[in-house]
Amino acid sequence: MIPKKTYSNSQSCSDVSQNITRIVEPSFEFYSVFSQTEVLELIKALDVRREIPLKYAYKGGGAKIWHNFYQKYIIPKWYQPANVEIDLLQQNFAYITGSYQSCQKINIVDVGAGNSYPVKKFISQLKKLGKINKYIALDISQELLKVSKANFTKWFPKIDFDSCTVDIENSPISPEILGNFNSMQIKDIANIFLHLGVTIGNHQDRNRVWQNFRNSMDKNDLLVFTNEIGSNSQWDGKVRGGCKYHVEGIYTWMTNNLGISSEDCQLVRKYDLKTDSITANIKFLQNYTLKFSQWGIDQTVEISQDEEITIWRHHKYQMPELTQELDTAGLQIVHSSSNKYLSHIMVICKPADCET
Ligand SMILES: C[S@@+](CC[C@H](N)C(=O)[O-])C[C@H]1O[C@@H](n2cnc3c(N)ncnc32)[C@H](O)[C@@H]1O
Repeated sequence: MIPKKTYSNSQSCSDVSQNITRIVEPSFEFYSVFSQTEVLELIKALDVRREIPLKYAYKGGGAKIWHNFYQKYIIPKWYQPANVEIDLLQQNFAYITGSYQSCQKINIVDVGAGNSYPVKKFISQLKKLGKINKYIALDISQELLKVSKANFTKWFPKIDFDSCTVDIENSPISPEILGNFNSMQIKDIANIFLHLGVTIGNHQDRNRVWQNFRNSMDKNDLLVFTNEIGSNSQWDGKVRGGCKYHVEGIYTWMTNNLGISSEDCQLVRKYDLKTDSITANIKFLQNYTLKFSQWGIDQTVEISQDEEITIWRHHKYQMPELTQELDTAGLQIVHSSSNKYLSHIMVICKPADCET
């Protein structure tokens, strides 16, 4: 079913083109992808922050957009530079699996696993060491978890695979998901939580994400993540990578599913001072009323001509800011290293208040 559109003209005839308000309702696909709770969170984010959180753009048809973008632009090819995540995992292998780990085995808990491609080489090395207990793929997107499972079980048919949908911005990872059923298991199996693909820079509430990671961790566990390093405000304005290709896919998918005509909007990318991030926004060229009426929800969001709605964002860190955020969440950096261009960093953290 295509999104419903109606037009309401509350103004005088002479001014019609200027004052039309388009009233639209999201598509059938939209309501089949998001749960009631997610629709309510999305409406609130639209209403209060003028944002559709990027995390929702990986669900439903958005999973295919990410996977296609990944296959086309991120998997290394002879004409394409090496993959930052794979390289940094290689570079930090010894630290991640190192001797300070007193446990016999490790679970790799890949949070925001996507298609799991970045961990393929890393898992292969762990397998050779006989150290891996289980790979657990967690993601907000059920559809990407299916891709992850198909890939992982093909690559490693003999390694235990588990998966679960999780929104790491909203809650910690439960012990049931990790399989921590008794204290002996916790002692012998450490969890290595991965948060790769510079995903931390995409979240709206990064502090809640850090806190949720910290609350998921035990004393032997580690958190390993990547992000871009540098100044957001000195962005050169050039769109590349995800900011170009992923954003284009999300923009088309979102506007189509919300029922916004292509001639009524524009894609704008800019530095946003308020969030100190690079953002991609839908700029409205008409007044719009987005009407949400499903599962007993009956809410509208009014968007005026020239207003912008953020659909993608990325925050680069400066090291002091990152250390401060981690510190506040009770996480302590044990090691970090950057790629050769000094654009990306991999950070390994442990719970700050636990003796190892
Ligand atoms: C930028 S992609 C990175 C994927 C993969 N880690 C990689 O490096 O290729 C972000 C991934 O995190 C997932 N994700 C985004 N926000 C999330 C959230 N709040 N909770 C759980 N997963 C999330 C997305 O569905 C997507 O698979």
